[in-house]
Amino acid sequence: MAGRYKSDLKWSDVTPKADWINRRQLMAGSGALALGSTAGPAVASLGAQKTDWGAGLEPNTVEEITTYNNYYEFGTDKGDPAMHAHALTTEPWSIEIDGLVDQPGSYGLEDILKSVTLEERIYRLRCVERWSMVVPWVGFELADLLAMAGVQPSAKYVAFETALRPDEMPGVSYPIIDWPYKEGLRLDEAMHPLTIMATGLYDEPMPNQNGAPIRLVVPWKYGYKSIKSVVRISLVEEQPPTAWNNYSANEYGFYSNVNPDRDHPRWSQKYERRVGGGLFAKQEPTLFMNGYADEVGSLYAGMDLIENH
Ligand code: MTE
Repeated sequence: MAGRYKSDLKWSDVTPKADWINRRQLMAGSGALALGSTAGPAVASLGAQKTDWGAGLEPNTVEEITTYNNYYEFGTDKGDPAMHAHALTTEPWSIEIDGLVDQPGSYGLEDILKSVTLEERIYRLRCVERWSMVVPWVGFELADLLAMAGVQPSAKYVAFETALRPDEMPGVSYPIIDWPYKEGLRLDEAMHPLTIMATGLYDEPMPNQNGAPIRLVVPWKYGYKSIKSVVRISLVEEQPPTAWNNYSANEYGFYSNVNPDRDHPRWSQKYERRVGGGLFAKQEPTLFMNGYADEVGSLYAGMDLIENH
């Protein structure tokens, strides 16, 4: 089914904070009970197609996913994005696609969503800071968007940029990184079916603090590669500069594939703490490529992944 997107309803409109509950647990526990009947106003379901991605993974709750965030444009504390990101204007929204493409231009989000199929993808998210979550994203394959623009044969990398709105983003007045937030992928990574542009989670529109209205999700890489609120995608020939790599190349490599054998210079990456597990939760071993090596390992055949961290 082609993607449906109820842009007239925002997460905050339909989900009062007191009603933040784990929909999945609710559904599982009560059979046919629909959230709409308990939460009051109609829920802006995105109608995402179910997929097998994430079978066997238990997602974190909505509350965990939307109150423990990294979105430095809104502050550096984990609770800052939930407090401040409501100021971000997400409608209308368009993405400038430029560089080595046949059809450069401004792509309206509404138009993009008319030509893609929204799927639910339940993915692990592993932050470089050693915490992790499981998130039921809603999105579509980045490859589909790139196909709309027509990637030219000389393109080797894809560069991404987040919106930069000093009036709406209190965090950008601090020169933590060189704003706007930038990320990049090699073209084959960008075209991989695991790589999605997400427009929602828990089958509802993306909360602002998670990168509304549209963000990248690359599940086998550290979370900072999954850039939020994307306004520009550029197809380029050379490896593009990226925000955290510019900040400290030894700490944050361009590839940033999750790798328990390549320690961050200031901490081990062998273990992680699942958000929501409680203060005394046992640390869990970090999985190579965050558990997605079977799918994406061949992209790095013959590469030294310590050197190319
Ligand atoms: N994108 C932007 N624009 N700004 C950010 O600060 N933080 C990154 C990534 N994308 C970040 C960003 C980091 S470090 C992580 S771990 C994930 O977003 C967190 O995504 P989440 O808040 O949805 O869990």
